[in-house]
Amino acid sequence: MKAKTFTRTLLAGAALLLAGQAMTADNSKQIEVSDDSFNCLTAMTQVGEYFVDNLLGNLEATVAVAQSATGGTFPPGSVVSLIPSEVMVKHQEGWNPATNDWEFFELNVSAEGTAIGVRGTTEVVNRFGGNCFGCHTLARSEWDLICGTDHGCAPLSISREQIHAIQNGDPRCVRED
Ligand code: HEC
Repeated sequence: MKAKTFTRTLLAGAALLLAGQAMTADNSKQIEVSDDSFNCLTAMTQVGEYFVDNLLGNLEATVAVAQSATGGTFPPGSVVSLIPSEVMVKHQEGWNPATNDWEFFELNVSAEGTAIGVRGTTEVVNRFGGNCFGCHTLARSEWDLICGTDHGCAPLSISREQIHAIQNGDPRCVRED
């Protein structure tokens, strides 16, 4: 191989490597998440306006951060949801530093259960065209990308009553009545 071609090949390889690192998360830090990882909202634990769970059985630590008045970093395995179709899941530390190791999910929910629609990091867009990370990154750093009502994110354009109606209408929940 000529020196010039060799250099070009080397540069292309380096560029690919860098692009790969920027785009893909560190898979060794990934917690397995499938359709079955998600529960009906009322089977989760409510903290204030949203619902939490922990895929690694560490619910207490997740609830402690969610209840904190000063913020904190959610532990690995944390699942957070305001409305049934939009969920954040926390992977192990170092999985994807750009999103504080959160993965964003858009779910398709029905009486049959949950099917993951879209999942990923900074690129995930909800069905209204909104980028999850774009909004959630506005939360002040001590809140670990959780918007809440006063963490610095722009408020949602739907009312609290509408949010409650969507929460209460989770089609996956088994109703007694
Ligand atoms: C237009 C901005 C915007 C977009 C886009 C958006 N969110 Fe949010 N999200 C918010 C705000 C603001 C709240 C807090 C709402 C409240 O309780 O008043 C919130 C609440 C949440 C919560 C509850 C915890 C919290 O941060 O308060 C989760 C989980 C969540 N969103 C996940 C997602 C996911 C996943 C997506 C993409 C599929 C997404 N969001 C897209 C702004 C947004």
